[in-house]
Amino acid sequence: MAQTATVTSIADLVQRIRESAAPGVAPEPGRVRDILEEALATTGDWIDPAYQRLGDGEYALYPVYRAEDGRCSILVVVLRPGTPLPVHNHGSWAVIGVYKGREHETWYRRVDDGTVAGRARLEVEQTFVNERGTAGVVPDGRIHTVEAMDGAPAVSIHVYGTDIVTQQRSEFDLHAGTERVFRPPFAEV
Ligand SMILES: [Fe+2]
Repeated sequence: MAQTATVTSIADLVQRIRESAAPGVAPEPGRVRDILEEALATTGDWIDPAYQRLGDGEYALYPVYRAEDGRCSILVVVLRPGTPLPVHNHGSWAVIGVYKGREHETWYRRVDDGTVAGRARLEVEQTFVNERGTAGVVPDGRIHTVEAMDGAPAVSIHVYGTDIVTQQRSEFDLHAGTERVFRPPFAEV
């Protein structure tokens, strides 16, 4: 049997992602996806329960890793059924792996020319059902949202090629046709 290190904690996952890239170089999203899928194949509940709590908010975002050089960060995201995340971008690539539950994801494309500040018109580009144990890359520049399915909370791991806590990014109101600064609430870890 191949000697693949078993991931038993977020710290293990962080170490494997860090080791996938040379010092001072951002991890490669395709490699991060493979590492994340290997981690998600680990049996047992290896994410600290403290990072799987929904709390009172519409969703919970736990920043469990922020690289000192700002080239990578990881959130554990807990989604409440019936409450999709605001439609948003990332300012980098993202890799999303589903740890518990199932998620419905929608990608949008921008159909205006972006020349009017605060205005944005979006159209649905593609939708996905993300099953537990799978991971996928969201390329830089994509606009998307995710929602828990099956009436149950979903827990997923989101890896970014930036410090997502400080990264400037946008949220979009599809019906109003607007774009504004996205400052989601991050939970304490
Ligand atoms: Fe996202």
